[in-house]
Amino acid sequence: MAKTILVPGGAGFIGSHTLLALKAAGYQPLVLDNLSNGHRDAVLEASFIQGDIRDEALLDQLFQDYPIDAVVHFAAFIEAGESVRDPMKFYDNNVAGSLNLIRAMVRHGVRKMVFSSTAAVYGDSTDAALTEDLPKVPINPYGQTKWAVECMLRDTAAAEGLQAIALRYFNAAGADAEGRLGERHDPETHLIPLVLQAASGQRDAISIFGTDYGTRDGTCIRDYIHVADLATAHVKALQHLFDMDDSDTPSEAGFYDAFNLGNGQGFSVREVVEAAKQVTGVDFAVKEEERRPGDPAVLVADASKARDRLDWKPETPALIDMVAHAWRFMNR
Ligand SMILES: NC(=O)c1ccc[n+]([C@@H]2O[C@H](COP(=O)([O-])OP(=O)(O)OC[C@H]3O[C@@H](n4cnc5c(N)ncnc54)[C@H](O)[C@@H]3O)[C@@H](O)[C@H]2O)c1
Repeated sequence: MAKTILVPGGAGFIGSHTLLALKAAGYQPLVLDNLSNGHRDAVLEASFIQGDIRDEALLDQLFQDYPIDAVVHFAAFIEAGESVRDPMKFYDNNVAGSLNLIRAMVRHGVRKMVFSSTAAVYGDSTDAALTEDLPKVPINPYGQTKWAVECMLRDTAAAEGLQAIALRYFNAAGADAEGRLGERHDPETHLIPLVLQAASGQRDAISIFGTDYGTRDGTCIRDYIHVADLATAHVKALQHLFDMDDSDTPSEAGFYDAFNLGNGQGFSVREVVEAAKQVTGVDFAVKEEERRPGDPAVLVADASKARDRLDWKPETPALIDMVAHAWRFMNR
């Protein structure tokens, strides 16, 4: 029988793409989303329940009513700038919400979780390629909330036998290659959709913040990872957790590990702008502005651990494809 996977936040950008990958791999996804930022019509091929991970009674009901084998947890607020202005909103949803969810799992004997973490846990690192063992020094409350949940998973694994994998995404980009799903954040703060909004005339121009960094063209470099590749990584991580049950003596022990998910190659802001001009054929206006405080010059993943232990690698690493897929979705 297909394993049932509870997917809090499955109506959002990365969650909705992951539903397709879960279904294709033979799992039965069950979405729980309060639609604070998600979209009901992004939930394809999965059951949907509208509700909040902070609702204890609802979680008890769900774990009683459905034979849930594991949880793939995307539900969170994600905008770092907003987290600086309103940190309690983020601690309440991201930390207290996750605490409530993990407690419900422990109460109902559900031991496996894949959790959406972020490169923001590394803060302002100056290392050329970030590895998982670097110090965790988030520079904003958003990153802090994600690290807090990772600590909760690590400690609950040790104490209660939880088996959890945290996936630290770099910049999620692109869209479903068939154009069914894509990025619909509101407000949008991610570079590729913003640049495409400039190309489509939804905004007058795109701003480049800082052109005097010590990088190849003076602009910041970031690691962009196709959302379909992120989706595949969740399936691989889940499989890794289920494989622990397949031996003759399934492990009662807890497990926690974290993996970077990135391309391992960075693209500069100017390269993103040029790719968008090439894909769209529109020569939109670009404004060069001062650096923003707290923007490191380079953030690129060392994702070799995920490659080695989860047998995962990006299938769509080219920036031009990520931009083209996002553009196709925007014009669907
Ligand atoms: N987008 C990125 O580049 C990126 C990078 C690193 C990490 N992440 C993490 O990945 C996850 C998904 O990101 P996304 O870009 O798809 O964001 P998103 O906002 O599109 O998706 C989050 C979903 O969670 C839902 N949600 C929020 N709070 C909830 C709650 N209390 N109960 C139920 N549902 C709730 C929202 O309605 C939304 O559908 C987040 O946890 C985010 O922190 C994203």
